[in-house]
Amino acid sequence: MEKVILVGVKVREDPDFERSMEELESLAQACDMEAAATAVQNLPAVHNALYIGSGKVQEVKNLVSLTGADGVVFDNSLSPSQQRNLQEELGVLVLDRTNLILEIFSRRARTKEAKLQVESANLQYMLPRLVGMRQALSRQGGGFGAGGGFTNRGAGETLLELDRRRIEKRISELRRELDEMEQDRKTQQKKRRESDLPCAALVGYTNAGKSTLLNRILDQYGAEADKKVLEKDMLFATLDTTVRRIDPGDNRDFLLSDTVGFIDRLPHALIKAFRSTLSEVCSADLLLQVVDFSDPHHREQMKVTEDTLRELKAEHIPRLYVMNKADLVMDKERLPRVLEDRIYLSAKEGIGIEELVGRIREKLFSDFLECEMKIPYTDGAAVSYLQENAVILSTEYMEDGVLLRLSCRKK
Ligand code: GTP
Repeated sequence: MEKVILVGVKVREDPDFERSMEELESLAQACDMEAAATAVQNLPAVHNALYIGSGKVQEVKNLVSLTGADGVVFDNSLSPSQQRNLQEELGVLVLDRTNLILEIFSRRARTKEAKLQVESANLQYMLPRLVGMRQALSRQGGGFGAGGGFTNRGAGETLLELDRRRIEKRISELRRELDEMEQDRKTQQKKRRESDLPCAALVGYTNAGKSTLLNRILDQYGAEADKKVLEKDMLFATLDTTVRRIDPGDNRDFLLSDTVGFIDRLPHALIKAFRSTLSEVCSADLLLQVVDFSDPHHREQMKVTEDTLRELKAEHIPRLYVMNKADLVMDKERLPRVLEDRIYLSAKEGIGIEELVGRIREKLFSDFLECEMKIPYTDGAAVSYLQENAVILSTEYMEDGVLLRLSCRKK
């Protein structure tokens, strides 16, 4: 654990301030940093050069020497020059909220694409800040850099070991590679649309329980489907890990995609870098907004999620609100609770999964209709397509073709 001082500026009685500072502390913890002290300043507006007032700078400096902290973390994005000035004044490494979020993303990235996206966002954010950081680190003997905050895991070396030109070269390499991956993704998305399978996307504030929920759904409905996809339907053989086919066993399959978690002030560089992954959200037919219902701040978190969705231009897509972790705040006997646009459940305890999948299907397949089709024997392909993609209610072999009574999506 590295010791850090947390600093926040409360501008004009911001009602979200305390929540934001608590969240900064969790972000720091996730980067293996421990808050040794917190400094807060009330200001009508932040200062241009140092972000906080010069008296406050002195106070933070005293806190640093008192606690032996290795760095100072600000609860907002600092400009490169603010970061550099503060570093000179304080004599230790200065980080901001964005640095922490980028670090956490780089630790969480699993797929190759996600890794490259984070690396690209990280390098772009760090490039104008490198000189100042390097100076601060060399004054400190470089110890802090080896731990939280500054490793560029993708490249396997400390960001501060790279020089400017190599970083610029790396950024353009990454851009090229990511562009290629984006093309692949577009091709996959197109194939998926052609396949007619409706798609739901999980979105939500970080830590709301999206991964837990996805795994629960996959436990119950996924594994078989994934196998089936590989064996039977090569169209989906190239699905990456973030899009899964959910097969409740009655030909009303749907796709479920998972995306990065949202957070207050998600760095713009990250949204840009993740535009391709996030485009899954925009092409969904239904958004499952997962909410940590046990968090006293869940309303604010829902608002941040809505704001991010607006930024992604996905606000028009229908929602189903998944009020997760209800086991912590509601009587378990009364769960799940299913309402028109929301369902209270517990992903961890596996309560409400069937009801949720049922509700998803009601929403996704609301345009199902029943009909009869007579298909000539010469068109075997159409018959097998319907066997795969519709619910066949009866089959009758007539002289001039197969008469199917079936239920399927209008599309
Ligand atoms: P990000 O990866 O940050 O976006 O998080 P996430 O939304 O994928 O959350 P994740 O599934 O990792 O869950 C976060 C934490 O909440 C884990 O410790 C889970 O065990 C816990 N959790 C998830 N669902 C529930 C639930 O229904 N009840 C309780 N009590 N805990 C839960």
